[in-house]
Amino acid sequence: MSKFLIEGGRSLNGDVEVMGAKNAGMKIIAATILAKGKYQIANVPQIADIFTLLEILKYLKAKVKFENHLLVIDTDNLINRPLPEKLTGQLRGSVVLIGALLGRFGEVKIAQPGGCQIGARPIDTHLDAFRQLGAEIKEDKDFYYLQWNKQNQGDKIIVLPEMSVTATENMILASVLRNGKTEIHIAAAEPEIEDLAIFLRSMDAKINGAGTNKIKIQGVEKLKTTDYQIIPDRIEAGTLIIAGIITKGNVIVKKIIPEHLELFFLKIKSMGANFEIVYSYPDKKYADIKVSPTEKLNPIIKLDIRPYPGFPTDLQAPMAVLMTQADGKSEIFETMFENRLGYIRELQKMGAKASVKNKHLAYITGPTPLFGKKITTLDLRAGATLILAALIAKGETEINKVEIIDRGYEKIEQRLKKLGAKIKRI
Ligand code: EPZ
Repeated sequence: MSKFLIEGGRSLNGDVEVMGAKNAGMKIIAATILAKGKYQIANVPQIADIFTLLEILKYLKAKVKFENHLLVIDTDNLINRPLPEKLTGQLRGSVVLIGALLGRFGEVKIAQPGGCQIGARPIDTHLDAFRQLGAEIKEDKDFYYLQWNKQNQGDKIIVLPEMSVTATENMILASVLRNGKTEIHIAAAEPEIEDLAIFLRSMDAKINGAGTNKIKIQGVEKLKTTDYQIIPDRIEAGTLIIAGIITKGNVIVKKIIPEHLELFFLKIKSMGANFEIVYSYPDKKYADIKVSPTEKLNPIIKLDIRPYPGFPTDLQAPMAVLMTQADGKSEIFETMFENRLGYIRELQKMGAKASVKNKHLAYITGPTPLFGKKITTLDLRAGATLILAALIAKGETEINKVEIIDRGYEKIEQRLKKLGAKIKRI
């Protein structure tokens, strides 16, 4: 496992590009299973999770060409076959292959999905939803086996037990070719779900309401291939904006969709961060974010993590680093995962004044100087957080297991180096 060595205390300055959204790209790649032929998908991030998913597509005999963020997939010879643990084990996002394979072939056999250890993360929400949709599910200790039963025809209303992002996406993928109308209630509303729906609509799927908590799908006979461009990654954008704020630099985070970060902007504004949203693109949904030095940061009385459009859990940890530099006591209420505060122990090792009350609640009092230490990352968002902390820590920080960070952030050390950070991978 490689590690990062980071010399803190330098401000970041310059422009930085934001990659395509990991959590849109993975599901859009899964959706290519639904139609035979050639797809060209642009702005795909070159990160480990995407490469892993493409290995699975190749295992299913898809032809894949991926360079310079342009992904060409040919599913002409795609087949259905059991997906082994060695392929699906390390990738939580592989769970959406269930909906795509069931939607296209009517049956699927898949090893239990893996991913970051940030909570129980059962897929029983998914299995419950698939049963409501008319799937028969058997499982043994290694595999899930799903197939349509007789009742899978006709109009159905699915009520999700919780606003699960990938369960919502699984329902969409399994319904677009189903013979009947499907309504998904208590659907998650993340922008990546909307991006998947727009991609599927460009394949002639009939979907309305994606991005709200009620999605309506009219199944069609056949879908066609399409070309597409993935939305920017709002989580990476937020992480890079925080990097600019905490290092008191002049950083321009290029071409993001501010609408996807409305509450994030409100929160950092309430902290007193200096930034400007500059709409300078022909397509008015994009903007650059110009960060400039902020003298004093105010604490956040309560950062309440909620399903979208609430404050995103994937930006919870990066926000904690900002809180260590805020003048006062902040509260983090992580409602989504029961094991996503582990990184706070690492921040404490670096000098942060923080206390974890229970698996959902933590307090951080600032401002405290941070000091370089040898630390270990837990999940990919915690990993990015430790990089942020190292950027402002006095002295050198060594972060281990950085492959976890590579799962979600493309060439992060090269892009930070370009901004003036002293970071090297060994
Ligand atoms: C997706 O995971 C993302 N992963 C996660 O990003 C993201 O953190 C999560 O959505 C946010 O909800 C992908 O898209 C591949 P969930 P998913 O099913 O679908 C609880 C990253 O770093 N929950 O929405 O597996 C639920 O029990 C990853 O890119 C509620 O409590 O997440 C589960 O423990 C990490 N109430 C957790 O949240 C709700 O209403 C996530 O559930 C909904 C969910």
